[in-house]
Amino acid sequence: MTPRPAISRAAALVVIALVPLVAVGPAAAARPVPLRALAAEHGITIGSAANLAALTTDRRYRTQLGQQLGSLTPENEMKWDTIHPARDTYDFTQADRLVAYARRNGMQVRGHTLVWQNQNPGWLTNGTFTRDEWIAILVDHITTVVGHYRGQIAQWDVVNEAMDAAGNLRDTIWLRHIGPEYIELAFRAARAADPDAELYYNDFGAGGVGAKADAVYDMVSSLVDRGVPIDGVGTQAHWSAVACSPCGPNMAGNMARLDAIGLDAAITEIDVRIALPVSPEELDVQADLYAMFLRVCMDAPNCDTFTMWGFTDRYSWVPQAFPGFGAALIYDEAYAPKPAETAIRQTLEA
Ligand code: G3I
Repeated sequence: MTPRPAISRAAALVVIALVPLVAVGPAAAARPVPLRALAAEHGITIGSAANLAALTTDRRYRTQLGQQLGSLTPENEMKWDTIHPARDTYDFTQADRLVAYARRNGMQVRGHTLVWQNQNPGWLTNGTFTRDEWIAILVDHITTVVGHYRGQIAQWDVVNEAMDAAGNLRDTIWLRHIGPEYIELAFRAARAADPDAELYYNDFGAGGVGAKADAVYDMVSSLVDRGVPIDGVGTQAHWSAVACSPCGPNMAGNMARLDAIGLDAAITEIDVRIALPVSPEELDVQADLYAMFLRVCMDAPNCDTFTMWGFTDRYSWVPQAFPGFGAALIYDEAYAPKPAETAIRQTLEA
């Protein structure tokens, strides 16, 4: 397993050290231990995607994120359309503010994402470049962005969602203009720009069994065999609250085969959407799924990252992307803990 970054250990120790202090005194006696401190005791970093608009306008969001979570993934602010709006222009303003917040709160940062087919600027998607120019643009982007945050990012999602459901490389600008080599080029550029950041391939629908999971496994095995610098595979885990069997063992098996080739596994974007209106039964199913994913990660020797795609139902991509669904996160719209939060807490305390 790749050595975990020193910042992770340091942040965990600080949190553990602070816990007895906040628990002292009658007023604070009932305050639950932060999730991040409970997780740190297991060597797990529990985190959330975060968006700058909520962080800057909503004090409760700002407070609860830093108190409960030990890692932050910028939800959109590091994507090409924001951070690289014109060929010769980089704009780190928004991402810098999230990274600064994370540092102030002793949180790790997961960088997301360097190569994707979505949220790319028009100058890129409509550009007519030679293959060499496409390669130069890709390498320059990664070198500049990863270099800008060198030493501040624990894990980068270097390549995101490159595989389709059938297990073929997805038809993207990168595949079309560069060929399959774009994946290897991206990982090599990222490692050169920050040798200490852990480098991940990140995808959905590939964390268990099936054609896509096998194709991702084959692809990353091939990268490892060829000496391409990759450290792990991220499972997004955007789920709906329906019974799922035997997804725990399937996911554990997938993590085990990654471990066998020296790769870490991470849960990178978990949320569990519910058909509205929410029922107590579905909240319980949701809670069971969150706990199951966390348990699989805790049991796997190569998993130390459990990241949710948001933490409060007040801000979530789900209602917009899945009309009729929502309530996918562990705190409700008023920031109260849901059964899923309790289930995570109990899993960590067990
Ligand atoms: O930036 C524009 C803004 O200018 C405009 O006023 C507004 C109007 O709706 O839209 C804004 O863009 C939105 C953007 O988020 C930033 O808020 C897009 O419409 C919206 O589609 C986009 O959604 C994001 C989605 O990725 C895009 O694919 C979600 O917030 C984000 O949570 C989601 O995250 C992805 C991960 O990166 C990869 N894995 C899947 C995950 C969920 O789709």
